Parts: sequence; C-alpha cells; structure tokens
Amino acid sequence: MHNILVTGGAGFIGSNFINKLLKDRDDVSLVNLDKLTYAGNLENLKESETNSRYQFVKGDICNSELVDYIIKKYNIKHVINFAAESHVDRSILGSQIFYQTNVIGTNVLLEVSRRNDIEKFVQVSTDEVYGSLGPDGYFTESTPISPNSPYSSSKAGADMMVQAFHHTYGMNVCITRCSNNYGPLQFPEKLIPLMIINALNNKQLPVYGDGLNVRDWIFVHDHNKAIEMVWEKGKPGEVYNIGSNNEKKNIEIVKLILQYLGKGEDLIKYVKDRPGHDRRYAIDSSKITAELGWQPLKTFETGIAETIDWYLANKNWWERIISGEYENYYQNLYGSR
Ligand code: NAD
Ligand code: DAU
Repeated sequence: MHNILVTGGAGFIGSNFINKLLKDRDDVSLVNLDKLTYAGNLENLKESETNSRYQFVKGDICNSELVDYIIKKYNIKHVINFAAESHVDRSILGSQIFYQTNVIGTNVLLEVSRRNDIEKFVQVSTDEVYGSLGPDGYFTESTPISPNSPYSSSKAGADMMVQAFHHTYGMNVCITRCSNNYGPLQFPEKLIPLMIINALNNKQLPVYGDGLNVRDWIFVHDHNKAIEMVWEKGKPGEVYNIGSNNEKKNIEIVKLILQYLGKGEDLIKYVKDRPGHDRRYAIDSSKITAELGWQPLKTFETGIAETIDWYLANKNWWERIISGEYENYYQNLYGSR
C-alpha cells in the first residue's frame, strides 16, 4: 500500500485526483489535508468519504506540528502538494495569503518531509511561472522562469525551493507545470465555470480587455493522470510540463459556451483588462510524453460539452456557492468596471 498525503484535496483538481485515484486503484491510501478555504468543499469528495483508504484532516499546510503528526500517524511516504491560493484576480486584490500558503506552506511541507524521510514529493505547479508568450512558440521545461502576477510569483518561489531541497538535501522531488484546467467541480471564479453559470442566470459575461488572450486548456482528468505518472515514474529533481495542445482565445470559449446553452452574444460584456494580464500560454509537453508515456485523452469538444453538462446537472453545487461569500467577492471585484 502506498500511503500518500494529498494537500488541498478539497479543491477542484485535488478532489478530482482523490476521487479518481481511489476508484482506479486499490494500492493507495490517501490522507487529505485541507484548510477548507472558500475554494475547499467537502461535497466534492462525497464519493470518497466512506472509503476506508481515505482520511480527511482539516488543517493548514503552514502548521508544521500538524503536518509532522499526520506523516507519523499515517506512516506517510509520499506527498503530493495541490494546496494553494490559486486565483490570479484574488492575488491582485491581496497578495499576502498567496505568499503565506504557496511559499511558506510549501516550505513547511518540504522541511517536515525531509525530516521524516519522505520517499517522493510532488509539487503541483503551473505554466504561469514562465510568464507570457508572444504569438509564437511554446513553454518548455528550460524556458526561464518569469512570473508576472503575485499568484504566479508565489508558485515560482515554491518551485525554486523544491528544486533547492533536491539539490541540497538530495530529496526525491518532481515539479509539474500544467496549463489551464477545466472540468467538473471547478470553483466558479475561473473563466469556464463563471461563464457557464452567468449565462445560465442571464447575467453579463465579463470578458477582460479585447478577449484575445490565449490559454491552453486541458481536461482535469488528463492533468491528474500526468501527476499520477510523475509521482510513480518521474525522475528525481525533474520538471514536467503538462498541456493538451489546445490553444483557444478567451472570446472563442465564451462564444462556444453561449452557443452550447442557446444564449445570445448580447450577454458578453467587455470589461477593463486584468492588470498585468499574460497574453498567451502554450505548453510543449513532449518531455512527459517521451519519458513517461503520458498523453492527453480528452478532446476539447468532448471535454467542454461534458463540463457544461455537469454544471447543468449540478445546480445545487454551484447555487450554494454563488449565494454566499462568492457573490460578495464577485460584486467587489467587478463593481467598479
Ligand atoms: P483550488 O483553489 O480549487 O483549490 C485549492 C485547495 O487548497 C482548496 O481546497 C483549499 O481549501 C486548499 N488550501 C488553500 N490554502 C490551504 C492551506 N494553507 N492549507 C491547506 N489547504 C489549503 O485550486 P485548484 O484549481 O484545484 O489548483 C490546485 C493546484 O493546482 C494549485 O497548486 C494550483 O496552483 C495548481 N494548478 C492549477 C491549475 C488550474 O487551472 N486550476 C493549473 C495548473 C496548476
Ligand atoms: O495556466 C494555469 C493557471 O490557470 C493556474 O495556475 C491558475 O491556478 C488558474 O486560475 C488559471 O489561471 P488564469 O488566470 O489563466 O485563469 P482564469 O480562469 O482566471 O482566466 C482565464 C482567462 O480568462 C484569462 O486570460 C483571464 C480571462 N478572464 C477570466 C475571468 C475570471 C476573463 O476574461 N473574464 C473573467 O471573468
């Protein structure tokens, strides 16, 4: 049995990871440490909560005593760190919690892992650490780090630290850098779920700037399969880019969602641009394909239809979210535009 500490497992990507891994394999036992911030939701883990190989602990990755206790109590040998403040717009409104969780929290996990001889540490990072691309080219693992937002700089800081712990202490670490995820259970502050839900509610769809920024979209299960493979087979100290060769302009995504839902384009509202908005992300994932044999399986056409259908079928899930704290956040953020 592989005993794994998964952090941030009540969020979008982490909960999909836990639900799928427990379903797919019987040789893993998972402890999920999550602070349950606004983005953490135990409802995401309904299908896993009664599994005897799953345990939830509410707590902060910055709490080293708690992390040490969990690692010892559950005989943890592997750590996969999903926990983070993950939303760029929030990092622009207030950056401190981003550095606290994403940098200090990762430092705590690394220190405690090192003292407890953890066999493998996987840091779930992002392509945003590379900064922004012009109209051509791709991020490779040797693209210089050049983050532009408080969020991406905090993730870049964590990445540097993870590499330093490999270099200095010989820890067996890997870093994954993935592009924009979409799929079920994504918190409705991110582009795709926000646009689906606003369209369903006949609310305006706020498109930043000229809507021509490009993101490289990947279905969440494809990302998680890559993380599983990196955990099992990734070489010590290595970085693996993960992407799906699926570049889309934001406005294309928005129009596609409106079309799928049978709504008019008059709902689109161009708003003031995000400060420091990265123009284009595009990932070269040939390394993980060549070294580990990973490939994305989901086409965007299928994945986006499944995702919109999921939000249609799970109104209760998102209605509870938007009727609470998120609504205030939304008004504060866009009220002035
Ligand atoms: P999310 O915001 O949906 O979830 C984050 C989770 O971390 C939440 O459950 C939250 O409660 C938890 N958390 C936050 N602070 C914590 C703390 N101090 N201690 C313990 N738990 C804490 O994020 P997501 O979209 O699922 O992203 C997961 C990871 O993947 C992040 O590290 C993010 O940087 C990375 N990533 C995300 C994307 C994407 O498109 N969403 C792409 C590439 C990489
Ligand atoms: O690339 C990976 C990153 O993708 C992850 O590391 C981050 O955690 C994740 O949040 C995501 O970052 P982005 O900033 O690219 O995602 P977001 O969904 O916030 O925005 C996607 C694009 O859509 C971006 O160009 C900004 C634009 N946008 C976003 C929102 C929320 C709009 O035009 N309107 C909006 O209301």
